[in-house]
Amino acid sequence: MKTYKIGSIPGDGIGPEVAREGLKVLETVARLEDFDYELVDYPYSGDHYLKTKELVPERVIDEWRTLDAVLLGAIGHPDVEPGLVERSVILGLRFRLDMYVNLRPIKLYSEHLCPLKNKTPADIDFVVVRENTEGMYSQIGGHLKKGTPDEVALVNGVYTWKGCERASRYAFELARKRGTARGEGGRKPQVTLVDKDNAIRPHDIWDRSFAYVASDFPDVQTDHAYVDACCMWMIKNPEWFDVIVTTNLFGDIITDLGAMIQGGMGIAASGNIHPGRTSMFEPIHGSAPKHAGKNVACPLGMISAVSMMLDFLGEEQAAARIEDAVAHLLKSRAIPSADTRSGISTPDMGDMVVNRIQEVAQT
Ligand code: IPM
Ligand code: MG
Repeated sequence: MKTYKIGSIPGDGIGPEVAREGLKVLETVARLEDFDYELVDYPYSGDHYLKTKELVPERVIDEWRTLDAVLLGAIGHPDVEPGLVERSVILGLRFRLDMYVNLRPIKLYSEHLCPLKNKTPADIDFVVVRENTEGMYSQIGGHLKKGTPDEVALVNGVYTWKGCERASRYAFELARKRGTARGEGGRKPQVTLVDKDNAIRPHDIWDRSFAYVASDFPDVQTDHAYVDACCMWMIKNPEWFDVIVTTNLFGDIITDLGAMIQGGMGIAASGNIHPGRTSMFEPIHGSAPKHAGKNVACPLGMISAVSMMLDFLGEEQAAARIEDAVAHLLKSRAIPSADTRSGISTPDMGDMVVNRIQEVAQT
């Protein structure tokens, strides 16, 4: 039997509450699909930092490289300096393990979850490939004369040919894999490059590396949008998108917008991927301290992240079992919304997904 080594970082706030449900679902599909896994628990979080002053030590980064995948709940604590633990854990994983793609599907399962007028699941089904190791997140920069009236703050946006090219290549391969039948008349697969190269001229490294990759994919259509226009199209005509490739910061921003049109932060999931190496899967929501400890958080984002992890590991059937269950529960309105107002507690919602998976397996 195949055994996967999976790191688990429940983290802060609602993180541990949703992570528990994700693991419950993982256990269910592992039994059905006959694979095994070993969980390695990591305590890193804002909470852990307040108690111990410990961030992620170097030896743990090395240990992470030996895992097949990592599941992360959420990181962020109101009493810790903003971003300190996030940079150590989330960016530590992404940067140090070179997880160069942040894959963020934006898929509407049921019309009633969408705040846009007259948009249906046929209209909202695209994927954002967010470059995940450079851009404005490079951490290169700092302050001069901090705390004085002459203070200067500098941050460098770093874009390497290698970083842009590999993100684009991943996007084109994904578009090809997603297939051809999109929308009316079955349009060709399409990759849209989203940047801001009118105002930020060095962004043209994205255009040139994108065009270079595109020449290897004559079967994939290309498109380009400035990030501001992209936000507009995501609301006005989300059906135009198939795969988007974009910078680290723009990807961060447009996927919160994407989460809203697919039903809210409670359902959006992501994978931090380096093909063939340790990759990390997490809901895109944060630790939501105001909801912590109440068991009202929606675990569907976390549960969908588990599905993405299994797909990455090659357990496609297990992944599909989870996705189908989530889609069914939302479509049938057994789960009326993917937020704190669903009226269903976090563990009950996890149980509903488990039960649905088991029901389908028995028929
Ligand atoms: C995300 C988050 C992170 C990011 C934060 C917590 C550093 O917003 O995963 O989208 O900016 O990437
Ligand atoms: Mg974000």
